[in-house]
Parts: sequence; structure tokens; C-alpha cells
Amino acid sequence: MSHSPRPKFTFLGHSTVRCDLPDGKVLLMEPWVDGNPSCPDELKSFERIDAMLITHAHADHMADAVALAKKYKPEAVVANFEICEWLAAQGVENVAPMNIGGNRKVLGMRVSMVRADHSSGLEDGGKYYDGGIASGFVVKLAEGYTFYHAGDTALFSDMQLIAELYRPELAFLPIGDVFTMDPHQAAKACRFLGVRHVVPIHWGTFPDLTGTPTQLSKELRDLGINCDVLTLQPGEVY
Ligand code: NI
Ligand code: MN
Repeated sequence: MSHSPRPKFTFLGHSTVRCDLPDGKVLLMEPWVDGNPSCPDELKSFERIDAMLITHAHADHMADAVALAKKYKPEAVVANFEICEWLAAQGVENVAPMNIGGNRKVLGMRVSMVRADHSSGLEDGGKYYDGGIASGFVVKLAEGYTFYHAGDTALFSDMQLIAELYRPELAFLPIGDVFTMDPHQAAKACRFLGVRHVVPIHWGTFPDLTGTPTQLSKELRDLGINCDVLTLQPGEVY
């Protein structure tokens, strides 16, 4: 495990994570705060947002992308090509389109867009648009620390490739079930990824999302996987 500097991660509830980088800049992953029932009120505003990452077009991952981009003028709003086209049409500047397999320099970090098994329909005013395909992100800081945010996804065995290519130390993995992996699958994901730490996301927000961090811990134990579950309640920091 490296001892290079890492972000201070603040869990804003559901899948939204604020990353305060070692140089003081702020990376926001999955801009959903205003309508996010889990996000503490005092964490819905920011001193700055320097970049945003959006894994897919569902509202619970990007409903506030346009408003936050216009307010804080981040250097980069990273998402797939189709989402970026839509954001640009809404007047968002500095969109940074990517596609699966690609890498981009963002705030001096290397951001890699990786596979997710999920959908990405983009709803706007009751109509659905092509939101491209869903993704996850691997972020490597200049100093080396590397983490993975899986977005919404099923378990897929190519998570082993993510481990081989990027060697993340920490993963943010959905565990809620119904729309994503459940805790059993997420435990296997930890094995494929080889991560030492996992932060459960996409749980507890809605009644349908029944998977819990306690279940994830038990599954990891039962499978003999050496990975610490960092259970963050909304507003908590790692
Ligand atoms: Ni989704
Ligand atoms: Mn979702």
C-alpha cells in the first residue's frame, strides 16, 4: 500500500463523493446534491468545484451537473461523449468527453473511463435521449494514489483487468441491489479488484436499495477476502 497523499473523501450520500485533493482543489464525483435525500444540507454548497466526473446519465448521478457547472465553473466536466454533448447544449462550458478505455489529464491527475454494466438513458423534460453507455472511473493522483468509483454496475469479471491495469487501493462500489450489485457480488468485486479498502455506495437512499455495509462485511468474511469496509454515513469523511 502506498503512502502517497490521497484525497479527503466526503460521502455526500447515494453515489456522490466530494474529493478534496492534496493541492486544495475539489473534485466532485456524481453531482447530485439538491434532490439527494441523503445529502446533508450544509454540504450542498461548495467553496469551489474544480472538476466533476459523471459516470452515466441517470438523474441520481447528474441531476445537478448543469447548475453546479454554471455556478462553480469547473475546469473540466468529465462524462461520456453523449452526456457531454447534452451538457454543452445546456450551456455547460469545459465539457471533457471521454469513452471507455480512454484516459484524460484532469487537475494534474489521470482519469480513466472504465466499463460498467448498466444503462445510461438521459431524461430531459419527460423525454429520453441517448446518454451513451454507463461507465466507471479510475483516478490516479500525480503522486500515485489510485482509486476507483464504479458508478452503477453489475459485477463483471473484467474488474480483474481494472486491477491489472490500474491497481486501485480503494473502491467505491454500489451495494444496494435492484439497480446494481448486491453485497455478495460487491464482495466478489473486491476480490477481482484486489482493493484493500471499499466504501459502499448506492445504498439506503430509497427503500428498494436493501443491501447494507454490514452485509458486505459479512460476505467478505465468508469469502475470506481481506478488504476493509469503510462505512461512511452521509457527511462522513475518510
Ligand atoms: Ni443508474
Ligand atoms: Mn443510480
